[in-house]
Amino acid sequence: MKKRILQHGRLLPSLEAALAEEYEVAQLWKQAEPHAYLRQHGASFEALVTSAPMGADAALMALLPNLKMISSFGVGYDKLDLELARARNVRVGTTPDVLNDCVADLAFGMLIDIARGIAAADRFVRRGDWLEGKFPIATRVSGKRLGIVGLGRIGQAIARRASGFDMALAYTNRHPVDGLPYRYEASLTSLADWADFLLVSVSGGAGTRHLISREVLAALGTKGFLVNVSRGTVIDEDALVDALVDKTIAGAALDVFANEPHVPPRLLGCDNVLVLPHIASGTVETRAAMADLVLANLRAFFSGQELPAPLI
Ligand code: 8YV
Repeated sequence: MKKRILQHGRLLPSLEAALAEEYEVAQLWKQAEPHAYLRQHGASFEALVTSAPMGADAALMALLPNLKMISSFGVGYDKLDLELARARNVRVGTTPDVLNDCVADLAFGMLIDIARGIAAADRFVRRGDWLEGKFPIATRVSGKRLGIVGLGRIGQAIARRASGFDMALAYTNRHPVDGLPYRYEASLTSLADWADFLLVSVSGGAGTRHLISREVLAALGTKGFLVNVSRGTVIDEDALVDALVDKTIAGAALDVFANEPHVPPRLLGCDNVLVLPHIASGTVETRAAMADLVLANLRAFFSGQELPAPLI
């Protein structure tokens, strides 16, 4: 007999198909009254499949008294109540590592775009402005100073790419990372002051909320660029919008926002900002690898084995 699992939020069609093949899947969003459905059936689920944007909060977990495992599509865990999962002995599997390269590739693409104005230049050509004059000259990338905020697995993949551009590199992190040749800077404000590009690749969640504050943006200064591939909540978004509109920083490239899919309207008229719809891991190859890991974590749980990618 197929095991029952609960699915919270839509997933890749190919992953939904693979889940349906192996399990009896209850798709929560299809229920007219999800809350009433879970009050009646919640006790029948030992495993929940979710994603980084959907997570699993205390309210959902309260309706799943026999929950033993969460398999989440994504590396971010800011929407998963890990404290509660730990307290209830619920195992959690995510999809780390397989997305490092694609996120780092896009981060670098974003950095080059915002320095050189690739998307802005494309808009310039399409508007017909080239017929009237030249596109303004931009900022060099090679040989510049890159400050990385959060030198985890994604931050390290970004750092490796920077060496191809002969960039000077420094980072800040909760602790210095052993065995790497990069300069550790304990103070985020000093890092921002030093950097030409400040790249945010730290985990989201309460511990990093508004880490990039008005003060950090002031330190980055009128020649500094900000790139964010982590979570919108890591930046004081009001302060960032002010900095971009008032040009107290040079520009920003953002793949993530505090209230996705809503982007602060004041940003939409600014040519010194690149706005992307949270696509850093969004390639066929990486999303397939993430889907495989969601399935592998679930299979390991149901066969009593150690999860291949355990968070807890
Ligand atoms: C999302 C992400 O998972 O992995 C993460 O934490 O933010 C993304 O890769 C992706 O958008 C799928 O929902």
